[in-house]
Amino acid sequence: MKKFPRVMKRIMIFTLFATLFASLVVFGFGVKAANIDIKGVDIIYSNPGEDCSTQITISWHAKSRYSTLIYTLKSDPTYAFATSMLVTGIYDESSFFHYDVAKFYKCTVPLKDLDPDTEYIYKIRCDDYTSEQYTFRTAGASEFTFAYMSDIHAIPYDDLELGMTAVKKLKTVQTLLEKAEDVNDTRLSFIITTGDETWRGSQYSNWLEWSKTQFTSARKDYLWLSCPGNHEYYTQTTNSIWNYYPDKYSSNPSAIYDDPEYFYNTYFNSVKAVPKNGPEGIPSSYYTLYNNILFICIDSMQVGDYGKLNETRAWFERVMQKNEGKYQYIIVYQHYPWYDFVTGEDKYAYRWRDLFDKYGVDLALSGHMHGYLRTKTLYDGKVTTEEKKGTVYVVSPQIGDRPKVTSGDQNKNLIAYRESTKTWTDYSAISTITVTNEGLTYKLIDVDGKVRDTFTIEARRASTISESHKNSIIDSLTFSGTPDSIVCDFKSSYSLYVKNIKVEAGGKSGEVNPSEQKTGYVAAKGLANNTLYDAKVTITFIDDSTYTTSASVVTSGTFGLINNLKANVVNDKMNINWNVSDASLVDQYKIYINDELEGTSTTNSYEIDKSRVEFSTKYTLEAYKDNKLLFHKDFYYGVYGDVNLDGSINDNDVKKLIELIFAGYVFNSGAIKLLDNNNDGIVDIGDAFKILAYQNERVEHLVYNEYEVTFVGYSGNALARVKVLEGEDAVAPEAPTITGYTFVGWSVSYTNVNSNLIVRAIYEAN
Ligand SMILES: [Fe+2]
Ligand SMILES: [Fe+2]
Repeated sequence: MKKFPRVMKRIMIFTLFATLFASLVVFGFGVKAANIDIKGVDIIYSNPGEDCSTQITISWHAKSRYSTLIYTLKSDPTYAFATSMLVTGIYDESSFFHYDVAKFYKCTVPLKDLDPDTEYIYKIRCDDYTSEQYTFRTAGASEFTFAYMSDIHAIPYDDLELGMTAVKKLKTVQTLLEKAEDVNDTRLSFIITTGDETWRGSQYSNWLEWSKTQFTSARKDYLWLSCPGNHEYYTQTTNSIWNYYPDKYSSNPSAIYDDPEYFYNTYFNSVKAVPKNGPEGIPSSYYTLYNNILFICIDSMQVGDYGKLNETRAWFERVMQKNEGKYQYIIVYQHYPWYDFVTGEDKYAYRWRDLFDKYGVDLALSGHMHGYLRTKTLYDGKVTTEEKKGTVYVVSPQIGDRPKVTSGDQNKNLIAYRESTKTWTDYSAISTITVTNEGLTYKLIDVDGKVRDTFTIEARRASTISESHKNSIIDSLTFSGTPDSIVCDFKSSYSLYVKNIKVEAGGKSGEVNPSEQKTGYVAAKGLANNTLYDAKVTITFIDDSTYTTSASVVTSGTFGLINNLKANVVNDKMNINWNVSDASLVDQYKIYINDELEGTSTTNSYEIDKSRVEFSTKYTLEAYKDNKLLFHKDFYYGVYGDVNLDGSINDNDVKKLIELIFAGYVFNSGAIKLLDNNNDGIVDIGDAFKILAYQNERVEHLVYNEYEVTFVGYSGNALARVKVLEGEDAVAPEAPTITGYTFVGWSVSYTNVNSNLIVRAIYEAN
């Protein structure tokens, strides 16, 4: 299926928050500051959003207040259909104030509504400067491989202590990424790092080192899931002072452990833009969902014997509970080692393993040790061979920097593999993890492309989907008709959860697998125009459960013809009224009560004597031109809680409702919609109490249903998501222009919204 690029030449002014520390307390300067000059734009990163299938955050530093992000699909290499965003940066002159005096405007753009499993390209322009092209791929592929690396310690000068020249280090990163792609015969989906990306986080030049794309295009080519290491906290002069307290502890570094104040990872946070969903006060810890994996990054500098271990553990549990059912695997990563590579000592695992056991963490990654260690599968601190149980703990080797050797044999029985890279070419290695629905396959790859270690973790969870998520998917399916087909619209992001969607109508059918065919709809084609059909949709979820839903839909070429359809009590009559977008298209309306023809109208309203209807009456409106059916819709009375149809809500309604409940009255779907005010799916005494509470002004709203209206492009890609309250109208975005096609309308009406809706832009070929 051809994917139509979007044209969204929207200019949006984004004023976004950057995390700044405006008033650092200065304890003194030991170092003469160097003024780092950046290009027009630099320090560009593709950061994860909370859900990487649709959310990626682009961040950069700009020289001037305004810069422009220009992004598009990779399939649009000339940027013909690019989206441009004018972004206002936040001036930051304090983050690198103590050492390198870098001053810049920090820009952060959280992109939402991206298409899953899609590669994007972007550039950033500031004044006369345009950056190189950067790229990222959103989550969504059912199988993918990512790279994991640690301890690169980028630095712009050669330091003998580091054992490898600065340029060689960058080149080694590039070699390893290329080997990783060769070995796995695939493009890597993203890079995860467990810290020490720099030698001194306070040195702006260390971060700039990664911009030397002639040596490595790592930053340019991939989404980065970064986790800070101790070096990201380090100042210029010493490696034992946290940046929040320049020089305060220079004579007694360990005293910081007793400092009750918290410290803030200024450098990491001013450079990256990770999801803001970490524990309170620790913005450098976060979680992100990448397809079927829940990644949790722990800033291990904050959770030692000091800091916020308990708060972070409590947050970890909340994250697990909140995301239950959304993931198949859990990978936790931090800088400090779970087990000490040199001695085998349990350094951090003991602080976490009860929770890792409880929630079933599959893989725990770490770094810092500059040597490779991998445990057997551990549960309760012991080796387990039980299926679907336990965690594998890994310590990554470094890239081109100070290899360590082992000296000590603690926990020998727990460790599956431990080796120094000191004798390997360039004493460097990278890891890759390949993800399928069956398991995770880990490979440790050296500079020569040799796989030094490999192991597999079998999936312990089915690739499941929660019931509530299923319901939200079912609720949002939206039917519409074209002249020769009945169409069911869905969001392209369903490719993660849905195996198959089938639509049947009039003896015709169509079906798609959303992850294989990137369409946003499925159609039963070859139907007669202006005809009412009973359409049935069957949806098969990834756990093989199926669900069928149906609707009456008319085939028609008139989109958005009737809006604001309502049944209201006016002067003892039930008044049906609606808006019509083009009255010349209609010459007759038919009104039905409970499927019986009630009467006709040539204007856009119809009155029915109130004695003939009740609150559960089903109304149907049809519109015709030259006896051809153009529109058909069933609806119900819309004043919530008004059981006795007098237009107001009071104890008479409560009385009548209680009578009906005790009489065993069967409420039809329209009545449930009208009366299930506490939204539990049934009409019962609780709803009567809610009406009473509303009448007595103890609750503000009788219903407070909020719906999501998703406007999608031709291929199901989201153009805008709009939240509206029950009965309100959504505002459509500008329909994208597609060369060779004419936009003819939106697939369904989006006024008087009373359900989640998908509204698709309809085009005709010129
Ligand atoms: Fe390190
Ligand atoms: Fe480290």
